[in-house]
Amino acid sequence: MSDNISSNLWTVIGKPDEFNSDLGVCIKIDDEQIAVFKLSGEKEWYATQNLCPHDKRMVLSRGLTGDLNGEPKITCPLHKRSFSLNTGECLTDKETACLKTYPIKEEDGKLLIQFS
Ligand code: FES
Repeated sequence: MSDNISSNLWTVIGKPDEFNSDLGVCIKIDDEQIAVFKLSGEKEWYATQNLCPHDKRMVLSRGLTGDLNGEPKITCPLHKRSFSLNTGECLTDKETACLKTYPIKEEDGKLLIQFS
């Protein structure tokens, strides 16, 4: 889905309508898998590493989105740890490492991610 057209630090990854609300999409930039999310009813987009830090599996784009005490989150489909989509912090297990998050925005009918 990524056409890898870069302008400044932002990379176009597609059109917003190519991504479904509440379903994560995995994209690949260079050798990095990135999970892209949009929660239904929200304007915000979120992007995190696709690798779950708990057991080092590339699964987060298949996780369950929602919120935990008002914090938008992704829950890993394997062992159900939940991570903040804003900060990457694991909300359900303080021993689990944080996710890397990426700035993402919608602009001029395109979805862009800041990847560096
Ligand atoms: S691999 Fe994600 S919680 Fe275990």
